[in-house]
Amino acid sequence: MSLSDRQLWDARYRQGAYSERLWPSAYLQQCMPEILAQQAPQRALDVACGRGRNSIYAAQQGFVVDAVDVAAAALAQGARQAFHAGVTVNWRCQNLLGANAGGVWQPHNNYGLIVMFRFVAPSLVPTLVSNLALGGHLLIEEHLQWSGPEAVSGPNNPDFRVAPQSLKEALLSGPQVLDLVDEFEGLVEEPDGSQAALSRIWVRRQR
Ligand SMILES: C[S@@+](CC[C@H](N)C(=O)[O-])C[C@H]1O[C@@H](n2cnc3c(N)ncnc32)[C@H](O)[C@@H]1O
Repeated sequence: MSLSDRQLWDARYRQGAYSERLWPSAYLQQCMPEILAQQAPQRALDVACGRGRNSIYAAQQGFVVDAVDVAAAALAQGARQAFHAGVTVNWRCQNLLGANAGGVWQPHNNYGLIVMFRFVAPSLVPTLVSNLALGGHLLIEEHLQWSGPEAVSGPNNPDFRVAPQSLKEALLSGPQVLDLVDEFEGLVEEPDGSQAALSRIWVRRQR
């Protein structure tokens, strides 16, 4: 990512992007009771966290959350939100793609929960899987390429959508043994009333 892309995301957030999207992901909320039934809250990673709606939610559930995004403005807004919510999140400003001053991004911890929502980065999938603790959960949700007649919200650029089944193929082709806990591809009504075409997948690391 070039410096101008970093500035672009920062500018978007300064102009109020996603400021109305305060609700945590419906998918994360749906999965959380079962995740907590299987393990006590551990360390969690929110990849490209934006304003941290899911980081804050995970922290409220008892996870120790590392939240990473390239946009400093988003992290600052998230930190204010976390303060008001009375939770602590470890915010980190980092370009997750390509080389940084410190080399290619590599998480420093193993995680009981990793979420990557609405940030298409197939190159990160092997890294995320290898940083899952044994028994750890990885949830990914992306806008899905959609050719149906329905009008769907989200990015117009197909590069920011995933092809059908591509999340599953990327996840299950690695050396780690993952249980496929849940998958979904189709239309979902968003909290703002729009309709989104989404690809969702939830895997658990067995070994
Ligand atoms: C559509 S937003 C999703 C934010 C959050 N995951 C959510 O679901 O609310 C995409 C996020 O990806 C971040 N992003 C884009 N490119 C990035 C990169 N190279 N490294 C880290 N974050 C990046 C943006 O700053 C933005 O916050």
